[in-house]
Amino acid sequence: MAHADAVVILPAAGKGTRLGQAKQYLELGGVPVMARAARAAAACQEVAAIVVACPAGDEEKVRALLEAHGAGAKLHAVVAGGAERADSVRNALAAAPAGVELVAVHDAARPFASPALFTRVLEAARTHGAALAAIPCTDTVKKAEGTAVAGTLDRRTLWLAQTPQAFRIPVLRAGYERAGNGASSFTDEASLVEASGGRVELVPGEKENFKVTDADDLARARARVELPAAVGFGLDVHAYEEGRRCILGGIEFPGEVGLLGHSDADAALHAIMDAILGGAGLGDIGLHFPDTDDRFRGADSGRLLEEVVRRAAAAGFAVLNVDLTIAAARPKIGPRRDEMRVRIAELLGVPAARVNVKATTTEGLGFVGRKEGLAAQAVVLLARC
Ligand code: CTP
Ligand code: MG
Repeated sequence: MAHADAVVILPAAGKGTRLGQAKQYLELGGVPVMARAARAAAACQEVAAIVVACPAGDEEKVRALLEAHGAGAKLHAVVAGGAERADSVRNALAAAPAGVELVAVHDAARPFASPALFTRVLEAARTHGAALAAIPCTDTVKKAEGTAVAGTLDRRTLWLAQTPQAFRIPVLRAGYERAGNGASSFTDEASLVEASGGRVELVPGEKENFKVTDADDLARARARVELPAAVGFGLDVHAYEEGRRCILGGIEFPGEVGLLGHSDADAALHAIMDAILGGAGLGDIGLHFPDTDDRFRGADSGRLLEEVVRRAAAAGFAVLNVDLTIAAARPKIGPRRDEMRVRIAELLGVPAARVNVKATTTEGLGFVGRKEGLAAQAVVLLARC
């Protein structure tokens, strides 16, 4: 087994200006981008320690976040980063443990590097002093002056730099020393070594090891790890109560006995809401609209369903279809089934054909048969949007 003699530096102190938010904290499939990067580094057997550079003031939060996501095992230090990426790396390098031979710098914003890639780049650095993961250029590359083409470059000589970039520690330290204050303007570590004429070895990178830079990258990252669809199930039961209006499936049944509940007691819409919240991983109605909250007394469940659809959308889910079953001795659903479908579809913002309503009287059995109350069950399919 290889000797663990490398430290990995994760620069994670950026602002995410191009994405519009600090991407290192964003969760992909429940795991923050930076924790994915740290996990890949920790899984590499040559790696003895990890040092993270984060926004000043976030040190404790970052440590807790990495530990909570199984990425804390080899964490040696969390330090404050600097104004530029190279400043962040320099701060982290100063906190590297004594006794390590190699350093690999890896963007916290690259969640999908494999541990084997770390090994390959570290081994190349052990041999050559400096190495980086890079992808051979497959597109023809134009040089431009403004929007006019000023030439075509020979793509056989062009590689796109990724991270990890690895170095024998004195090689990187010397690169920083030579560059002095000018180091801040270098956008990767290999160029610090190149600038002094040092040899840097190219190691074939991984196409999936892309950096999350803009919204398209984030969508690509999400599509890679998150389910494209989710199913949800909801169940609700309400007792009959004389003197209350009967609202079911978003429509009123005049003259029918109503249902007991804190809101308008529309069991059908409640089952659909729970199904949507369940599929989106957002808990249940009680969590979102507590019956201890007076704002929801007598609430129109149609409005609540619209709010649930909005909250699901904010969590990245859209309703594809709904199948609703109402178990009730009364009111009679059949004659108003289509009206109910249309109303539910309207509340969900989907075509009526995506909503199905079924009814059963349960053959006179159970609490439904005894006309004590009714039950509604719903299944929904959600698409990630
Ligand atoms: N980084 C850093 N310190 C900085 C700037 C960047 O540690 N002062 C880190 C980022 O957190 C990221 C990596 O360097 O993990 C690559 O940088 P980039 O993709 O440019 O991220 P941001 O700087 O956050 O994004 P933007 O340039 O769009 O603001
Ligand atoms: Mg940046």
